[in-house]
Amino acid sequence: MRSTTETTRRLGSAPDPATLDPAERMGVDELRALQLERLQWTLRHAYANVPHYRQAFDAAGVHPDDCRELADLAKFPTTAKADLRDNYPFGMFAVPQEQVRRIHASSGTTGRPTVVGYTEGDIDVWATAMARSIRAAGGRPGDKLHNAYGYGLFTGGLGAHYGAEKLGCTVIPISGGMTTRQVQLIQDFGPRVIMVTPSYMLALLDEIEKQGIDPRSTSLEIGIFGAEPWTEQMRREMEDRLDIEAIDIYGLSEVMGPGVAQECVETKDGLHIWEDYFYPEIIDPVTGEVLPEGEQGELVFTSLTKEAMPVIRYRTRDLTRLLPGTARPGMRRMEKVTGRTDDMIILRGVNVFPTQIEEIVLQTEGLSPHFTLELATRERMDHLTVQVEARPDCPPERRTAAAKEVSKRIKDTVGVSVAVSVVDPETLARSMGKLQRLHDLRTR
Ligand code: DLL
Repeated sequence: MRSTTETTRRLGSAPDPATLDPAERMGVDELRALQLERLQWTLRHAYANVPHYRQAFDAAGVHPDDCRELADLAKFPTTAKADLRDNYPFGMFAVPQEQVRRIHASSGTTGRPTVVGYTEGDIDVWATAMARSIRAAGGRPGDKLHNAYGYGLFTGGLGAHYGAEKLGCTVIPISGGMTTRQVQLIQDFGPRVIMVTPSYMLALLDEIEKQGIDPRSTSLEIGIFGAEPWTEQMRREMEDRLDIEAIDIYGLSEVMGPGVAQECVETKDGLHIWEDYFYPEIIDPVTGEVLPEGEQGELVFTSLTKEAMPVIRYRTRDLTRLLPGTARPGMRRMEKVTGRTDDMIILRGVNVFPTQIEEIVLQTEGLSPHFTLELATRERMDHLTVQVEARPDCPPERRTAAAKEVSKRIKDTVGVSVAVSVVDPETLARSMGKLQRLHDLRTR
């Protein structure tokens, strides 16, 4: 693993402040004043134009005029994914349809998709936030950028695309899939930056090796990975095997898309929330109470400039905590998201996150990062089975020992007994975009 000093040497020191957006240089007081002004506008805009918000505020006995300081936001009701579904397709829009320039949607696992809309102004803000994210990750104008996030209703592809163009990059809009061709184009076009989900990066990495190419020899220097949780162990795996900087990008369609928060290459110490556009809170997922800075809980966002679809206290279901600002003093950071409330498996009373298992698998000699989780019911009890692929060079006798080690570490650190089986390389399905690790086969 490269040391931080080497990282800094390779990519140069922190960006010249002159290249930062004015909001990135604002002090805390100045930024909070801007946020309050934008929050008051957003609350009024939502109340006046979205029946759902008018009803929800009235039912809670609050009015936009009650927001005199940022802390007053806690008096307003939260918004959940179900509210968007109940208002399907366009009920949450706050502007007439002629002003909506684009629609995105997330398929979701059940029921109706969640639909989101953008005005021209919203698309411009999004591109600005994304350009800022790519710059923070180490991207520069003139870089060639291989964009393997899916294009279409998913926000990843077009979100990254507009941001990269705004920054002045040359975008290669490859989208997801056709893995062999992706590798060929990386070889032929020589991109410096790649944007892709970490799970699809692993599939690309395997394909690079399969084609007999040394992954450390490609032109890639920076990978901007997000749309799903990934661990520090996974970062190490990708940085070592590809000789790149692996940087985390966070976002969600309801709040905008990718580029809500971004890790910067110099520090990799949490993701800077672009607070001039998005106001974060952390709440207790059970009681809904706002938690003090530094405490772990559910991340909640309020948009500050969105015109087409303002969101008030949107419950992301993502678990993290807020940390004070560093390189961008007014902007708080969020810790890497390690799980969602709805990814959590409750196995015989113990909470288990897939990322905990990822950490353990990647620390075990002979095992690849490809694994799946299967939940099934046997004799009215839930059982979890972890299937992991062996690395191609893992000798057969090592497999049994590795399975035992994973099972023991899960028991020791997470506190549950699970079955672990080590399978042949290239036998588990690969993801082209967001990875679905858990297969829930339980009968109820
Ligand atoms: O995944 C937007 C995106 C595209 C982000 C490309 C980053 C890169 P949705 O499909 O609405 O939007 O899914 C949002 O994905 O609530 C998190 O649970 C998860 N997620 C996104 N980024 C990260 C990340 C896009 N860096 C949901 N770490 C969010 C962990 C992430 N989870």
